[in-house]
Amino acid sequence: MRQVRTLGLLGTGVIGGGWAARALHFGINVIAADVKPEMEAWIRGAVQNAEPALSRLTFAPLPPKGTLSFTTDLLAMARQADFIQENIPEQLELKQRVLGDVSRVAPPDVIIASSTSGLMPSHLQKSMTAPERFLVAHPFNPVYLLPLVELVGGAKTSAETIEGARKFFTYIGMHALHVRKEIPGHLTDRLQEALWREILHLVNDGIATTGELDDSITYGPGLRWAGMGTNLIYHLAGGEPGMRHMLRQFGPCLKWPWTKLEAPELTETLIDRMVEGTQAQAAGRSIRDLERLRDNYLVDIQQVLRKYNLGAGATLRAVEERLYNEAAAKAGSHTEVPLRLVETEVRPEWLDYNGHMTDSRYLQVFGDATDGLFRRVGVDDTYRKTGRAMYTVETHVSHLAEAKVHDGLYVTTQLLSVDDKRVHLFHRLRRTRDDVIVAACEQIYLHVDSKAGKASPMDPQVHSKLDAIRAAHSKLPTPEQKGRFVGMPRG
Ligand SMILES: NC(=O)c1ccc[n+]([C@@H]2O[C@H](COP(=O)([O-])OP(=O)(O)OC[C@H]3O[C@@H](n4cnc5c(N)ncnc54)[C@H](O)[C@@H]3O)[C@@H](O)[C@H]2O)c1
Repeated sequence: MRQVRTLGLLGTGVIGGGWAARALHFGINVIAADVKPEMEAWIRGAVQNAEPALSRLTFAPLPPKGTLSFTTDLLAMARQADFIQENIPEQLELKQRVLGDVSRVAPPDVIIASSTSGLMPSHLQKSMTAPERFLVAHPFNPVYLLPLVELVGGAKTSAETIEGARKFFTYIGMHALHVRKEIPGHLTDRLQEALWREILHLVNDGIATTGELDDSITYGPGLRWAGMGTNLIYHLAGGEPGMRHMLRQFGPCLKWPWTKLEAPELTETLIDRMVEGTQAQAAGRSIRDLERLRDNYLVDIQQVLRKYNLGAGATLRAVEERLYNEAAAKAGSHTEVPLRLVETEVRPEWLDYNGHMTDSRYLQVFGDATDGLFRRVGVDDTYRKTGRAMYTVETHVSHLAEAKVHDGLYVTTQLLSVDDKRVHLFHRLRRTRDDVIVAACEQIYLHVDSKAGKASPMDPQVHSKLDAIRAAHSKLPTPEQKGRFVGMPRG
């Protein structure tokens, strides 16, 4: 399968817009194609609306954003894209026709995926050219923040297609769940529909309002679900004997059953109750307001889960690991003296009440530069798993100029000295537009045997790589701010 530099989107509504925002964020170019020319303004707006939350998702060094173009010529898009994602309305015949047309012009090594919520891939690939490169890749709204994508192959889909799609979606920060057998509704929508069907019954029977039913999830099971699914949670609920006890205890009521298997008739009364209920819950807030609220907490939840390496947090951690490693490898091929290890910009949420970059972000950016240097010489996750690490023992930041929102920044790093246990560094944070030094940071790191909790000699290979950098830096002048103490008068 070819390397994906350009994603082609077929249909640019809610889901197409979400795909565009995610792909652009991870440095993929997007050609968006829709039959309605007015969708160009819509998709550009959708990408912009996704930006505030998406830009907070990770501080790892991202590649430059991809570029977005729009066309009403679906076939022109199909000729240029490296991967095509279809997101047109959920109608089998329409999708079959459009997928067939597009497959006749897209080169056969271009994967074509459908976002369908429930249609079966074998039906969709029926009239396609090279149907083996087709699969269902079912995302979740908002696509730019939720990492799950269900991958489903049809009768003619090749294993290489599933693997190629998995690689691409992982690259853009997603968790690809391979649904091994095609069924209507795949996996997640089967589960979501079961819950929704019960909601419709409970509202229809006048048992509860939509708000009460949402409370029954958000205050309880919903909180658990972000980290552990129903099965693992029920295993815990069974106490020491786990799931076996749980099934024994609740087996009889599963026979009653508590739930109703068929959805109720969608009468006007039921529709009114659902609409009035959700309007009361929205309490005057617009869809846009609610989307912003949802996006913000979705980012924060993923950052908490990252700490536990759990669910969506594990996906985030994995993509960050790749981004940091790529940045270190890129820096590794540079020969600049001093090293240029971090390129970033002042993000809106980094500002303090004076409109300047806030203190903690300076530490974060300098920390990223140190991290980049250490990865470059081999102090990474694999190294730390051997029980050895670099610990910060001293940091001194001098603030020299202002950094305001969207100012481009970069860090240069000078290695002042190295011995077998100590690394002495000097960073300068500069504004990209005028190279003015915004802040300087002097740091000392100690190499530690983390189990013993004591300083220990670093790996000889790491030491020799640091020595080589130090030798390259030996002719650099000693930085003016080196060795400053707090409150020292500025010369
Ligand atoms: N909305 C969701 O929550 C969600 C979640 C996952 C998957 N999906 C699936 O994604 C697909 C799209 O759903 P959506 O909610 O984005 O729909 P939508 O109505 O918001 O967008 C559909 C877009 O397709 C365009 N379109 C219609 N016919 C076309 C054609 N022949 N060629 C090109 N473009 C055409 C429309 O102009 C529109 O912009 C569906 O298959 C749906 O099942 C939706």
